[in-house]
Amino acid sequence: MKIDSNTKIYGLIGHPVGHSLSPIIHNLAFEHLSFNCIYEIFDVSPECLGDAVKGLRALNVKGFNVTVPYKESIMQYLDVISEEAMKIGAVNTVINENGILRGYNTDGYGFIEAIKDEGEEIAGRDIVLIGAGGAAKAVSVSLAMNGINSITIINRNLDKALTLSNYIKNEYHIDCTYCTIDELNELKNIDILINATSVGMSPHIDESPVKEQVVIKSRFVYDLIYNPQKTLFLRYAFKNGIKCANGLGMLVNQANHAFKLWTGVNFNKELIYKHIQVEGIMKTM
Ligand code: ATR
Repeated sequence: MKIDSNTKIYGLIGHPVGHSLSPIIHNLAFEHLSFNCIYEIFDVSPECLGDAVKGLRALNVKGFNVTVPYKESIMQYLDVISEEAMKIGAVNTVINENGILRGYNTDGYGFIEAIKDEGEEIAGRDIVLIGAGGAAKAVSVSLAMNGINSITIINRNLDKALTLSNYIKNEYHIDCTYCTIDELNELKNIDILINATSVGMSPHIDESPVKEQVVIKSRFVYDLIYNPQKTLFLRYAFKNGIKCANGLGMLVNQANHAFKLWTGVNFNKELIYKHIQVEGIMKTM
């Protein structure tokens, strides 16, 4: 990689940001397309967020991703926020257009594209969504915008499930309810079952957000987690021959949408998947 005075800088802000795959994805894509660009990681401590954004603007950093814990708090420092990011209430991608900072959310898009990449339809489907945090909100907004029939939200904290289901119902006028895990056991068929909680994430790899009896009622199972690649939740699906996928597809697709917002073109997704698999990058995380 040759860095000179024309090199455009992109990056990621978050805290902590140690294990992010984003630099690998974007730098590989820049290299493959021979773009004179570089993607850096910026670990920003909470009391420095405002100063960090001023610095990114002053240094003419062309664009950046935003991860935990700043997806919401970044919004106060931006000049323009897209409608989708407003609805989700979080920004994960920023473009710096001559000093004007524009915020977007590409997580929802990444999720929908990942489901489509698996050959699954979304329109008309009955979805069960586990989780009611930030990731679940991005997923439920994107599902509501893509013509699903119904969403049932379950969450450890039921108040949060109620708040999210009311929000989706009121904003999109679709059938969106919530229930307890026990009530979920009474459901007969689930078109798509989605885990949008952190349950099962490394190092807690022997936990699942729901029991196997719930997983086996599903036709297609999606876990937003990609580390480990096979959570216990997905292992239940595998064991019972149920089609399933992990969150790597969502990660790569949200990155691809951010890349397009920054550069005007998409990268080659297959190249990225191949690199991640061939290099064994997931195994070292
Ligand atoms: P994110 O932005 O990744 O969605 P978040 O907003 O903190 O993170 O949401 C985390 C989600 O995982 C929530 O749905 C949370 O449930 P609660 O609202 O009940 O906290 C869920 N979660 C995290 N740890 C959990 C656990 N041990 N058991 C069940 N749910 C858990």
